[in-house]
Amino acid sequence: MIALASDHGGLELKRSIMEHLQSKGLEFKDFGTYNEDSCDYPVFAVSAAKSIVSGECGRGIFICGTGIGISIAANKVPGIRAAVCTDTYMAEKCRAHNDANVLALGARVLDTSRALKIVSIFLSTDFSGKERHSRRVEMLKYLDSQMLN
Ligand code: RB5
Repeated sequence: MIALASDHGGLELKRSIMEHLQSKGLEFKDFGTYNEDSCDYPVFAVSAAKSIVSGECGRGIFICGTGIGISIAANKVPGIRAAVCTDTYMAEKCRAHNDANVLALGARVLDTSRALKIVSIFLSTDFSGKERHSRRVEMLKYLDSQMLN
């Protein structure tokens, strides 16, 4: 299950991504926002992020105008590794090197075609599991555990 979240700035792109996921037969859950009214991205980022930490969802795709605000909000939730990606190289590396569990996109930065390519790479790339990358991701998890105490 893929967790989706956006603010008003990311709503249109989120709808395109939902159509894309549906066409691929991929399941998702949309945590809002659901209309064009101006709203606050941390609200939707945090509820969708919690669904990933709880295990209800495996990965997330979060969208705002730039991808920046919603990624900052998501990364406040221990266990979340959200990466803003503007190209497929970043999408591949955030999975292979960082084991990112949230892809953050900027709807005012990317055209839809590029965004959908980024989504596809993010969803199809596994964590490499190489020792140096595992060690670094374990360090990130340790930092999360320190923040909880
Ligand atoms: C909303 O206008 C915009 O600030 C928001 O979508 C996002 O870009 C913030 O990082």
